[in-house]
Amino acid sequence: MRIALVGATGYGGSEALRLLRARTDIELVWVGSDRLAGRKVGDELPQFGTSHIGELRFSPLAELRLMQDIDIVLLALPHGEARIWAPQLLARGLRVIDFSGDYRLPDAMYAQWYGKELPEDRVAQSAVYGLPELYREEIRTASLVANPGCYATCAELALLPLVEAGLVDDSRLVIDAKSGVSGAGKAPSSGTHFVEVQESVRAYKVGAHQHTPEIEQVLADGRRRRRGQRANEGVGEEITTREVRVMLTTQLLPIKRGIYVTAYASLGTTMSGQELQEVYRERYDREPFVQVLQPGVIPEIRYTVGTNLCQIGVHVDQRTQTALVMATIDNLGKGAAGQALQNLNLMMGLPEDTGLRIEPWV
Ligand SMILES: NC(=O)c1ccc[n+]([C@@H]2O[C@H](COP(=O)([O-])OP(=O)(O)OC[C@H]3O[C@@H](n4cnc5c(N)ncnc54)[C@H](OP(=O)(O)O)[C@@H]3O)[C@@H](O)[C@H]2O)c1
Repeated sequence: MRIALVGATGYGGSEALRLLRARTDIELVWVGSDRLAGRKVGDELPQFGTSHIGELRFSPLAELRLMQDIDIVLLALPHGEARIWAPQLLARGLRVIDFSGDYRLPDAMYAQWYGKELPEDRVAQSAVYGLPELYREEIRTASLVANPGCYATCAELALLPLVEAGLVDDSRLVIDAKSGVSGAGKAPSSGTHFVEVQESVRAYKVGAHQHTPEIEQVLADGRRRRRGQRANEGVGEEITTREVRVMLTTQLLPIKRGIYVTAYASLGTTMSGQELQEVYRERYDREPFVQVLQPGVIPEIRYTVGTNLCQIGVHVDQRTQTALVMATIDNLGKGAAGQALQNLNLMMGLPEDTGLRIEPWV
């Protein structure tokens, strides 16, 4: 299998390189960067200096217009760029996995939450949201996969079982989310450089984070799909007509990698922590990268950093009848490059976990 990667010098792109380094079934034949065109990958990213990847040379992005004999192109570019390249690649029959938010939302919603308009693009309709735990079958045959956002991945996996099972008031879901600074990309800003983040924590984009509608859209779809499935099974269920609504607060942690979500949801029924854990265990029983922890075990970021895992711990606060779900991922792993390669495996008909059974760095 032959693939190309654009944005290899960024955090998401270089994590994809790290995961590709050991793969013998994938030939990385092209890496794109206008800034570094002609230079060796190993000169810019010394961690690949001793591998075959380090010997590759960056090529100018204009070459994407001519590219053929490639199975999949990974676009790890800033928001807005995929809309330039994906339509051209798809028109020539190449398949694309986009790391950005360009194909995750309807255009009007994108403009509202990202604060800018995207160029119109008819291929957007065909994009499949790359969360295998919900869209596995669609991903297998997709030409264009919109890889999910990092906070969105963690929050969706934390809340899907509750929403799908209709156990909570999903019109008021609370998501407290924290991320390591690599989530903001490689270029430092006044809010993300070392002195600003070290030994402190602060919330940002309060009430305005762009992953809010992404999470609502996916949870609503999970609820709809489960209902349809139940109807087919002849199981009646009360239909809630309320919209799924989340209150997402994102915070920056003084660490390099990792996301930690604590989600709160009001239970519509009395249940024990053990029963809640059973709901999650059943939902994710066959998922290779979602691990539901035993009751009382609390997930920790350090056990997912470097992996493609999402670890989930659940608790019921009996005094307030609230479900508490704690979930953690590596924003560059399951939140970006790991999930992209999980999607690539599905698209190429490979075992889904190929190259992704990796131990954490602890
Ligand atoms: N970081 C995360 O945790 C994370 C998680 C999920 C999704 N994402 C998404 O993944 C994408 C990449 O994120 P990142 O964190 O890896 O970003 P990053 O570290 O800032 O890297 C961006 C990459 O894009 C290239 N680039 C920048 N401007 C470009 C332009 N105008 N045209 C072409 N190439 C350009 C850069 O290449 P040069 O070095 O050649 O300039 C660099 O390789 C973003 O859309 C982001 O939202 C990131």
